Order: sequence, then C-alpha cells, then structure tokens
Amino acid sequence: MTNYAIEVNGLEKSYGQTRVVKGISFSVQHGEIFGFLGPNGAGKTTSIRMMIGEIPFKNGHINILGYDVPSQIASTRKLVGVVPDYQNLYDRITIRQNLEFFAALNNVDKARIDEVISEVFLVEHQNKACKDLSRGLRQRALIARGLLHKPRLFFLDEPTSALDPHSARLIRDLVLKLKGNGTTVFLTTHYMEEADQLCDRLAIMNLGEIVACDSPENLKKNYGRRAAAVEFVENDAVTTKDFSLEDKGDLASLAKIVSSGQLHKIHSQEATLEEVFMRVTGARWKSNSEETEA
Ligand SMILES: Nc1ncnc2c1ncn2[C@@H]1O[C@H](COP(=O)(O)OP(=O)(O)OP(=O)(O)O)[C@@H](O)[C@H]1O
Ligand SMILES: [Mg+2]
Repeated sequence: MTNYAIEVNGLEKSYGQTRVVKGISFSVQHGEIFGFLGPNGAGKTTSIRMMIGEIPFKNGHINILGYDVPSQIASTRKLVGVVPDYQNLYDRITIRQNLEFFAALNNVDKARIDEVISEVFLVEHQNKACKDLSRGLRQRALIARGLLHKPRLFFLDEPTSALDPHSARLIRDLVLKLKGNGTTVFLTTHYMEEADQLCDRLAIMNLGEIVACDSPENLKKNYGRRAAAVEFVENDAVTTKDFSLEDKGDLASLAKIVSSGQLHKIHSQEATLEEVFMRVTGARWKSNSEETEA
C-alpha cells in the first residue's frame, strides 16, 4: 500500500510518432489539492485520461489509492470521481434524471441524490433539462454526478473555465469543502490566481514534461523574479520604477539612487504564479511544436 493518493512514474503517451507525455513522474499526498498547470496542449488532459483508465499507455506506472492502473481499474473506479473538460450529461433529460441514472448504474443510494443536489446548490434547478442549462449550472451538475459515490479522489479538468466570477467562486468553495472532508483533489486550471489560492502543491507541465513541481509559495520564491518597486526623485520629479534584484545594471542604478539620497520609498515585489508559469514554460515559444501558435 502506497502512502500517496497518486503515484505516477515515468509515464509516457504517444499518438502515432508524437510523444505527447514524455515520461512524467509525480506524487500527490492524501487530502491535498494538487494543481496541474500548463499551456494548451501540454498533456494535462491526456495525463488525467491515463490516470482514470480511459486511455492506454505503453511505458510507466500509475498507482491510484494503492491500486495499479490499468490492471486494478475496477477497484479505483469506486473511489475516484471525475469532472471531464467536456459536457457529457444526457441533454434531453433533467439534472435529477441524469443523477438517478448514474446512481442506479453505480449502486448509489437514492437518498444521496438529494444530498449532492443540495451540496452543489442545484435544488431549484434539478428539474431543468440539461440542454437548457447555463455553463455554470451544467458544470455544477457534472460535479454533482462526479460526487454521487463519495469519491476519495476527485479529478476536475478545468472546472471553472469560462465561468463568471460568482460561479467560479462557488466551485472553488466546493473544492475547499471537499478538501475539508478529506477528499484528495486533482485539478487543472488556466487561472493562476485560482491555482495559487487553492492548491497545496502544483505541477507545471510543458510540451509533455513536468518542468516545475512544488507549493505555490516555493515556486514563487524559487522561480519568480525578485524585484523592488522604488520611488525616487529624478529630474526634480518623484517617479516610481521597478528594479530587478537579479540584474547587475538595475542593482547598480538602485545603489546610485540610495547613495545620492534621492530614495523616497522601496517595496519588495513578490513574484506572481503567472510570472513563474511564463518563466518555466517560456521555452515552448522557441520550440517547433505544433502547439506554438498563440
Ligand atoms: N486522441 C488524440 N489523438 C492525437 N493527438 C491527441 C489526442 N488527444 C490529445 N492529443 C494531442 O496531445 C497533446 C496534449 O493534449 P492535451 O489535451 O492533453 O493537452 P492539455 O494540456 O489538456 O491542453 P488544454 O490546456 O488545451 O486542455 C496535444 O498536442 C493534442 O493535440
Ligand atoms: Mg486539457
């Protein structure tokens, strides 16, 4: 039995001659929110699809909650919930009917349907046909379906994409509540602030490889640009400029301002996760990948 909720070692996936996941390794601890970030086409969804046993892979090992994937996939299916990056509810029937259908399919007690409907705030919408749902409601219905069997590990692939701030907040709060209940969450997102706020640790993928993996705090400390916002007098006027604390020229200019007594104020600038992301995935723009278009 592994001590981790997820352990992935040397995982590779190719489509034809193209290696889209290039031997990634990482582990996720029980009860943490783990973020999976990366530019479009980095290989995030492909990795999730391998971890939930949806697509095969040739090289590498995946262990989910102590079970090998894909050989013991039947055991992990009972413990894992998934919100895919596309809508796959039955459109013509209502949210409630969808949930009843999946509950019957997975031997879930009917009483649980009311519980999840209320957990994701769908009580007043439960009798709407899925084809008539807004994106936010549809996303909550997908989450409700994923939570029906009380999974111990929940995969969410871009759950807040294209949602308004209220709907996105509601889903983020749900994710935090799940963590509060001890559920392990594996989340992909393109929203850096969301990843920063929610994730205990995160991996950044680029062109099929993991290029950084740590807590948001450590990533910002280790990869972020150290800088200072400096207010000083220049040509008889007060001005503010950013100075990199890693650039010799900037440091020399800063020293000159300090020694001449022109300095008014100085604030250290914390790096943002977006800066870290841009820095560690920067090489993609120089590669020949098919995904390099903006
Ligand atoms: N079924 C498939 N057949 C061929 N290539 C595929 C298939 N699925 C994915 N790919 C390719 O694999 C690469 C990784 O795709 P993937 O969907 O995993 O990226 P992603 O990181 O989830 O991107 P996004 O942020 O846009 O969701 C891309 O180049 C994609 O075109
Ligand atoms: Mg994806």
